[in-house]
Amino acid sequence: MTVLITGGAGYIGSHTCVELIKAGYDIVLIDSFANSSPDVIERISMITGKTVTFYKGDLLDSAFLDKVFSRHSIEAVVHFAGLKAVGESVEKPTSYYYTNLVSTLHLLQVMGKYDVQRLVFSSSATVYGDGNKMPLKENARLQAANPYGRTKLMIEEMLDDHYRAHPNWRFVILRYFNPIGAHPSGLIGEEPAGRPNNLMPYVTQVAAGRLPELNVFGADYPTHDGTGVRDYIHVVDLARGHIQALKKTASTGFHTYNLGTGRGYSVLDVVRTFEKVNGQPVPYQMQSRRAGDTAVCYADAAKAKAELGWEAVKTLEDMCRDAWHWQVCNPNGYRKKQYVQSNG
Ligand code: NAD
Ligand code: WQD
Repeated sequence: MTVLITGGAGYIGSHTCVELIKAGYDIVLIDSFANSSPDVIERISMITGKTVTFYKGDLLDSAFLDKVFSRHSIEAVVHFAGLKAVGESVEKPTSYYYTNLVSTLHLLQVMGKYDVQRLVFSSSATVYGDGNKMPLKENARLQAANPYGRTKLMIEEMLDDHYRAHPNWRFVILRYFNPIGAHPSGLIGEEPAGRPNNLMPYVTQVAAGRLPELNVFGADYPTHDGTGVRDYIHVVDLARGHIQALKKTASTGFHTYNLGTGRGYSVLDVVRTFEKVNGQPVPYQMQSRRAGDTAVCYADAAKAKAELGWEAVKTLEDMCRDAWHWQVCNPNGYRKKQYVQSNG
């Protein structure tokens, strides 16, 4: 089966490409490299031993998209491509609405033209409103708190409307919680542009001495140690979830699943686990809360287990070990000459 992966050179997309190739899928990868490196393609080949078919191009360019569909017998699409930085979306909302919504509309139009009706879409736990009971079930109240989150919510609604009008299509919406870690080979991982906004890349850069200390945002939350609690999920577990989601698109339907572990860990749990498994100190200092953060957010992952037969198996230790291994092997991200061979 041939699957088109949009945004396949990105953090989650690259790990998903590896798992799909390992599972025997033929993939066609497209990416503009707006937030990723072309070197990712070679790294995917190094891990899988397979040549990757890829096109550099933008989903905003519908003629480009049409050309890719005309060249391959694509049967399903996994749609990762989009802008994802919450803070940037507050500064440049129209850019986020334009890129994320128009890209998805172009994709739907071209899929319709080539009679491709199977789509797996990357949504986010950020679509859940504040004040929901934990753990979050898929039917919890939805309300995004920033433009990025609203693009995800709008796309979910757009796809739902499309399905209602075309009930022969097949949609699986995946709401990711907090993906962290990297492929255990150390060949692919997360490469944030500039100073990281998210916890784990910040922690690895502090451990590597590139940043002096971690700022822990909030020590007065009503949690076991006062710091914020999240549902961290190993990116390889998350990637495997897409195989099960693709299988679900074998029959018609519109389905939404949380992809999380169902377990919450605090910021200090992450720091201490990282220090323990890697033997690297992570100096930190307590700061006031970060605007827009919630105290606790974790998934009820039962629906994905029951209906997709998928559950996360990797531990927080695995996530911390693999995140550090990636950092050590690639001190400067994907810049090729900097790759350090390591058996660690
Ligand atoms: P990423 O930025 O690493 O990957 C996205 C990829 O899409 C990048 O390689 C980028 O170059 C490409 N891209 C962006 N706009 C494009 C366009 N118009 N045309 C072609 N390519 C384009 O992000 P990620 O962390 O891998 O996230 C993948 C998806 O999962 C995104 O849709 C994101 O919103 C969603 N998501 C991510 C997280 C997370 O914490 N990483 C959590 C929930 C949901
Ligand atoms: C995790 C915890 C912070 C950085 C974000 C997006 C969300 C989704 C996943 C895309 C929180 C604390 C963080 C730091 C800290 N992405 N923290 N110091 O905010 O849960 O979710 O990524 O869909 O939309 O909002 O993840 O990694 O930023 O924060 O103390 O330097 O770590 O306060 O408690 P978040 P995060």
